[in-house]
Amino acid sequence: MTNIPQHIGIIMDGNGRWATKRGLPRNLGHKQGIKAIEKTVIACKKLNIKYCSFFAFSTENWKRSKEEIDGIFSLLRDYLKKENNVFLEYKIKVETIGTLNKFPRDLYNAILDMKEKTKSYKDTCVIFALNYGGRDDIIRAVNKLIKEGYQEINEKLLLENLDTKNIPEPDLVIRTSGEMRISNFMLYQMAYSELYFPKLYWPSFNEKSLKKCIEIFQKRNRRFGGLN
Ligand code: FPP
Repeated sequence: MTNIPQHIGIIMDGNGRWATKRGLPRNLGHKQGIKAIEKTVIACKKLNIKYCSFFAFSTENWKRSKEEIDGIFSLLRDYLKKENNVFLEYKIKVETIGTLNKFPRDLYNAILDMKEKTKSYKDTCVIFALNYGGRDDIIRAVNKLIKEGYQEINEKLLLENLDTKNIPEPDLVIRTSGEMRISNFMLYQMAYSELYFPKLYWPSFNEKSLKKCIEIFQKRNRRFGGLN
C-alpha cells in the first residue's frame, strides 16, 4: 500500500456498549477490547504502520467505578505478564504517554518491564496513553519549561516537551462507536490530523476495519492550511 499514515491514533470507544448489547458485564467488553488491540497491532506490523497509539485510560477515567477500574487494571496486568503476548511475539516496541505513577505498583512495574523488553524493536511502535489527557500533557510541558526558566515558548519547544516528543504527530485519528468527540486525546498533536469515526464498537474492530480506515485516509486531500 502506498500513502499509508505514519502514525494512527485510536480512541477505543464502545467496549461497555458492546458488552451490554450482548447481556454481558462491561468488563467482558474491555477483555474483548484487548483482543481488538492485538488484531490491530498485528495488522499495523503487516501494513508497515510505524506508530499506532491507543487511548487506553484517560485522566478522566478515574471517575468510573472502582470495580470497573480494577477490572481494566487486572486485564492489563494479566496481558502484560502473559508469556507470549503480541508485543514480544511480533517484535513491537511498546511506549507510553501519560503519568504512570498513579497506577498500582505491580502494574506500573509490568508496564516498565514491557517497555524495557521491547525497546530495541524498530519496525512498529505502539503507544499506550495511560492516565493520559491532552490538557494535562500541555500543562505538564509548560510547567516543566517554566521550571527550566523559560519566560516565553514557541511551538517547537512545546512539541519537544510533550509526552510524544519522539513520536510524529498523528496523520489519522480514529474513534470507534460513532461518537464524534476527541475527549482530551492528543489535543496539541492533532492540529492537522485527519479524523474518522467508524460506527462499530471497539471490540469488533479488526484488520479489515483498519484497512477501511486507511483507504478513507488515502482519499482525503491534506492541505495543512495551504492551497492545492
Ligand atoms: C472505551 O469503552 C474503553 C475504555 C475506556 C478502556 C479501554 C481499555 C482497554 C481495552 C484495556 C486496556 C488494555 C491495554 C492493553 C492497554 P467504554 O467503556 O467507554 O464503552 P462505552 O462508551 O460503550 O461505555
